[in-house]
Amino acid sequence: MKPEYSVNELLFGDPAEQPEHAPDRPPRRTGRLDQLEFQVTRLLERMNIAVIFGGDKTIDGAVINQTQNPRSWKSYESVATDIADALRRLGCKNVHLMSDDMRLGEQLRSKGIHMGWLNTGGVQGYDSMLHGAALLELAGIPYVGHNPLTAGILDNKHTFKRQLNAFGIANAKFMTWHLSRGPFCADTNVQFKTCFAGYSGPFVVKPVCGRASQNIVVVDKPSELMGAVDAVYQATENHILIEKYLPGREFTAAICGQIIARERKLARSTRPFVFSVTERVLSKDERIFTSMDISPITMDRLRLLGPENDSDTFKKIVEISRTVYDDFDIDTLIRLDLRMDEHGEINILEVNPKPDIKKPSGETTSIVCSGLPTCGMDYDDLILSLFADRIDRLFCERRHIVTSFSTLLE
Ligand SMILES: Nc1ncnc2c1ncn2[C@@H]1O[C@H](COP(=O)(O)OP(=O)(O)O)[C@@H](O)[C@H]1O
Ligand SMILES: [Mg+2]
Repeated sequence: MKPEYSVNELLFGDPAEQPEHAPDRPPRRTGRLDQLEFQVTRLLERMNIAVIFGGDKTIDGAVINQTQNPRSWKSYESVATDIADALRRLGCKNVHLMSDDMRLGEQLRSKGIHMGWLNTGGVQGYDSMLHGAALLELAGIPYVGHNPLTAGILDNKHTFKRQLNAFGIANAKFMTWHLSRGPFCADTNVQFKTCFAGYSGPFVVKPVCGRASQNIVVVDKPSELMGAVDAVYQATENHILIEKYLPGREFTAAICGQIIARERKLARSTRPFVFSVTERVLSKDERIFTSMDISPITMDRLRLLGPENDSDTFKKIVEISRTVYDDFDIDTLIRLDLRMDEHGEINILEVNPKPDIKKPSGETTSIVCSGLPTCGMDYDDLILSLFADRIDRLFCERRHIVTSFSTLLE
């Protein structure tokens, strides 16, 4: 039987634990999993949840003026459907799928949405990954997803890499260029000479804001950079990243918060949860990982790492992942892409703020879900983990916003 708590206790924890200096502010909740389980069950049952996917700018009323997409656009609707189906199986009676466009605010209001789940890269324009989160912040609706600032930092590879450098976390040497400064000329570019002193290639040219290996060019010599930078700029109209090519093995790792569900039972770990640490199996001539848009993710393209399998590399990746999660104060699931340099040192390529969480079916899967079985988890456990961790964090850190839950918990 579920324990019963007063609404105030459910919202703000045990009054006996209130710190004396701030009697109206409850302390962070540590432990208390039975209480969290009760809250999660009840909220799932009573909440109206909107799972939000990327809106299509060509649909009437979606935008005022259609502009460009510096980030290669995708609707992500099928994964939003996977998430919504899992929420229903977990007991949520009112799940709505909504597209992230100008009509979203009105839809949230008319359906009485209590909580959003962001599975969107946006509709159009710059920093579209953060538009959905910004709108939900504005509307006062809590959500599973990154706050706008974090989403923007993570989805802009150059901004993220500058912060990695500030934290001293290894990543490929890089510089950025924008065509408004003129064509990129390696021969005369002072920044290029300083950044890549003693290195003459190969280079990777890629959009600062991209996805799924889209618009990425590898060139062997500095003289080829001008054409590559121009091509990527024409496709994205944004800053361009020029990076040292890392020739080694490639890995990915998923990381989420400390509340984890196994067989629907919640547990709290002491560090962020790292899972699905995999090596991407590249074929002999595959210099960069082939886009999942071209070749779906199947288990033969992945090799799971674990404590008994390549344990040193596994441990290093787990430590790097947790460091990033903590240092960047990450709110929810991310997936790190990593690659070894010529000395075998692990470098971070990028972090994905909205990694693909397609539900495995038949041959195809998503990298994030590939390692769930070895953790004793299935897809619904992952969705429950992300939902419960968010509820826990909201109660810990965003207490003004969760007051709207009070009637649901009565
Ligand atoms: N500096 C690099 N060295 C070697 N390969 C790279 C480098 N940057 C990107 N790649 C390759 O390109 C792929 C996509 O790059 P990534 O930075 O992860 O961007 P995205 O996945 O957003 O397109 C990587 O999985 C990797 O195979
Ligand atoms: Mg990537």
